[in-house]
Amino acid sequence: CGIIGCILNNEKAAPVLLECVKRLEYRGYDSIGIATSGSDITIKKDKGKIDDVQANLKLTDLPGEMGIAHVRWATHGLPTKENAHPHTDCKNRIAVVHNGIIENYKELKSQLEKEGHIFKSETDTEVIPHLIEKYMEQGNNLEDATRLAIGDLKGSYALAAISRDEPNKVVGARKESPLIVGKGTGEYFIASDVPAILKHTNKVIYLEDNEMVILSDDGITIKDPEGKVIEKEIFVIEWTPDMAEKGGYDHFMLKEIHEQPKAVKNTLREASEIKKIVQSFPKFNRICFVACGTSYHASLIGKYLFENLVGISTDVTLASEFEYSAETLDENTLVIVITQSGETADTLKALRLVNHKAKTLAIVNVVGSTVTREAEYVVYTRAGPEIGVAATKTYISQLTSIYLLAICMSGRMELLEKLESIPDYMESILENEDFIKKIACKYKDARDFFFIGRGFSYPTALEGALKLKEITYIHAEGYASGELKHGPLALIDDGIPVVAIVPPGKSHDKTLSNVEEVNARGARVIGLGSSKDEDLRSETMDMIEFDDEINEIFSAIPYVIPLQLLSYYISVMKGIDPDKPKNLAKCVTVE
Ligand code: G6P
Repeated sequence: CGIIGCILNNEKAAPVLLECVKRLEYRGYDSIGIATSGSDITIKKDKGKIDDVQANLKLTDLPGEMGIAHVRWATHGLPTKENAHPHTDCKNRIAVVHNGIIENYKELKSQLEKEGHIFKSETDTEVIPHLIEKYMEQGNNLEDATRLAIGDLKGSYALAAISRDEPNKVVGARKESPLIVGKGTGEYFIASDVPAILKHTNKVIYLEDNEMVILSDDGITIKDPEGKVIEKEIFVIEWTPDMAEKGGYDHFMLKEIHEQPKAVKNTLREASEIKKIVQSFPKFNRICFVACGTSYHASLIGKYLFENLVGISTDVTLASEFEYSAETLDENTLVIVITQSGETADTLKALRLVNHKAKTLAIVNVVGSTVTREAEYVVYTRAGPEIGVAATKTYISQLTSIYLLAICMSGRMELLEKLESIPDYMESILENEDFIKKIACKYKDARDFFFIGRGFSYPTALEGALKLKEITYIHAEGYASGELKHGPLALIDDGIPVVAIVPPGKSHDKTLSNVEEVNARGARVIGLGSSKDEDLRSETMDMIEFDDEINEIFSAIPYVIPLQLLSYYISVMKGIDPDKPKNLAKCVTVE
């Protein structure tokens, strides 16, 4: 979900709220709503795509210079008009948008119902306007009533509230869900994240848990949980609004795939920062990566790299599984959390479990995100904003950060030069785009796909399969190619596409044998390997060639690019919007 609140100066709020909320749609949504406040509170909301809801309801017609908006990704209650935000109190005097989960909403709801409150939706959020109503009826203003209301809540929230009785005020609060404040000239914003408001301001304040913000005609006031005014640092964000635009590409995902060479260059600029961090490290005897989704695949590359290059025992845990196995970590362990958003609930929870027990380092893309404020060391990937739900350039940048860390920790500084040559090498792969498009066309109707690789290419196989699942809805499995014979080989039959990642190096010959095995069972093999690899060519139906023989250690960066493009083009050919795959969200702030 995503929320926005604003107070403007001589400008209607609804069109601005709609434009900002559209920039949050990548976080996942199934319904949208806006409430504005003038002499009264007016609300329009419905389930469906933003453009459709706008066409039907004319959201932008709402009057008033201030208001709140929301895109909802259903957690409690189906995606329906009633469940769409904003939610109101009994008398439509108060409107609230909320991102997060209120864990004790059932108790609160039944208590409020006993007190005479009537509910209209199945959501957890609706208890919030009713609680605010209750406290306002006891004589509190909107700010104090909101403070009292959040005191009753268990769970996570980023919320914005408005009241008919105080028409020039937006009150915001957060706990374990991101909320930022934007300071424009004479106009003020709150939002779930920075790209939503970049067009209006690049001056941003990050709220901490339990802090509240009050936007009014007079400006921005931030208060601590006791209601004391606090001064907060204003960050000037270097991202420009056009970074969050498609810039001539059909989709953000395609733009972001093409931005990857630049993203690697920007990540490489962090080398001296990383060197400083590494110099301040105590001696570690163990490294533990923790992450979700694509960031988890980057972590797996980290394992191969740290064990091979640095010689430190390294394991990788899915963030959602971490709490079940965290017992053995101590101060000699470096826990590296990887998260592009810096807000993923599972990853944050793992970080909080381990902070103060072990040393923690976060590899993050979003400056100022929650993880950056809680981890002991922070490495920024600097990939720029990523809007497409399926991670591409942030993955490549995460890999680059991991390589930099491993190079600095191993002292193998001569490898830096090789890493620095990767962006040019990536450009040459992107030039092969039309060929990948043809392959996409040939295989787009397959029901199942397999992706196989060994060593450094195993995480690439997992990532290739994940991309395909995410944006084409085709069933895909990523496998360590040696594992095929322990089960999946039974599924290989005539015509099934098997994408084999076979760069030159230690894993080459064994993977090639596995390719022969699937070939013998009728698979259609798409091979990724060196253009000089005639053995591989003879085993494949289609071959995606890599000009130079790249060091196997670094192959994970270039070899994933054709797989991203393959998924992208299959997605487009199937009529799916690759930027907004169904049921998925860019930033998952629930466990
Ligand atoms: C969601 C996204 C994935 C992403 C994962 C982890 O599931 O759809 O693309 O890899 O979250 O996100 P993070 O921000 O922690 O890297």
